[in-house]
Amino acid sequence: MTVAGPRQTPTDRFDRPVRDLRISLTDRCNFRCSYCMPAEVFGEHYEYLPRSEILTFEEIERLTAIFYDLGVSKLRLTGGEPLLRRDLPDLVARLRRAAPRADLTLTTNGYLLERCAQELKSAGLDRVTISLDALDDETFKRLNGRGFAVGPVLTGVEAAQRAGLEPLKINCVVIKGVNEHALEDLTGYFRGRGAIVRFIEYMDVGTRNHWELDHVVTAAEMAERIRDSFDLVPLPANYPGEVARRFGYADGRGEIGFITSVSAPFCGDCTRARLTPDGRLVTCLFASEGFDLRGLLRGGASDDEVAETICSIWAGRSDRYSELRSQLSPDEAIRSASERIEMYQLGG
Ligand code: GTP
Ligand code: 5AD
Ligand code: SF4
Ligand code: SF4
Repeated sequence: MTVAGPRQTPTDRFDRPVRDLRISLTDRCNFRCSYCMPAEVFGEHYEYLPRSEILTFEEIERLTAIFYDLGVSKLRLTGGEPLLRRDLPDLVARLRRAAPRADLTLTTNGYLLERCAQELKSAGLDRVTISLDALDDETFKRLNGRGFAVGPVLTGVEAAQRAGLEPLKINCVVIKGVNEHALEDLTGYFRGRGAIVRFIEYMDVGTRNHWELDHVVTAAEMAERIRDSFDLVPLPANYPGEVARRFGYADGRGEIGFITSVSAPFCGDCTRARLTPDGRLVTCLFASEGFDLRGLLRGGASDDEVAETICSIWAGRSDRYSELRSQLSPDEAIRSASERIEMYQLGG
């Protein structure tokens, strides 16, 4: 591979540099979360991308090296469910080499984590974030659409902590009337256990979840509920543009966070690029299309040509959907919702 020294980091039309690359490794998932891959749509016969259309490890490594050279310093592996990608530790080792100083992380539903946590750490993964929307089996089974119990996810959390994949974060999407009690359950369970729980406002991402504003519990409402049990103190952001608003327990027994994509959008600081499993570069979680980088790679483009293409795509970026959401007319909102790339192709 020939990547010729650091290049100038591209900035977009709002002067936002590209700093993070979120790489979706597969469109498959062992869960069927009702808000992402509802079981009635993604049944036995659903056709996933054929292997030939999915980026190979070599292609992902090459793109990662190019993005790293352009100034990307955070890499996040997502899916679908990234642990379903065969030989994942091999890919992690390649990415560690391609981007030696980058923060290399992974978002997983945790169900298959126990058996591979140590191997992933040894291969060079820095940390993991585990999605967990409920702590009681009844709600969790309903939400994951497959009847899977919570136990294996908690064992996965412990294995990840033993392996040193830390700071370990837990992501919980809170949906009104569905899993609000997870606010008390997850804070109660993880307080003092070294994991940072982040509660995410339910978003209108993808085309499948029939989202309505009424389904959203705002971060302010969540914090008020948690304050019934625990005193919280605000903590400063770890870095500019951090997605989660951080709070510590007043007695020092850990921290939690809120991701306020609906009530307080953070587009102004958004430095995130996303790569779909089939190699499209997507510049916003709510985009309706991506730019085909796989075609360039397979067509014989040089690293310089690929880098130039990425720079020109990024330079033209003007996305700020979450900030615009509240200004859309009902017609515009419906039209925009019917054309989006799905969450399981973008990994959040
Ligand atoms: P850290 O590096 O650990 O701080 O991770 P992070 O908070 O950047 O990443 P994570 O993947 O855990 O993000 C948590 C969730 O926030 C995602 O799963 C999404 O639901 C949401 N989120 C992350 N990035 C964006 C974004 O660019 N736009 C919007 N609207 N939501 C986002
Ligand atoms: N709103 C907010 N977060 C979501 N996620 C998936 N769909 C949504 C949604 N509609 C979260 C998952 C996981 C991450 C990949 O994205 O729960 O934590
Ligand atoms: Fe799978 Fe994550 Fe989508 Fe749930 S939200 S179906 S775990 S990709
Ligand atoms: Fe970034 Fe788009 Fe999310 Fe705004 S809505 S923070 S631009 S990904």
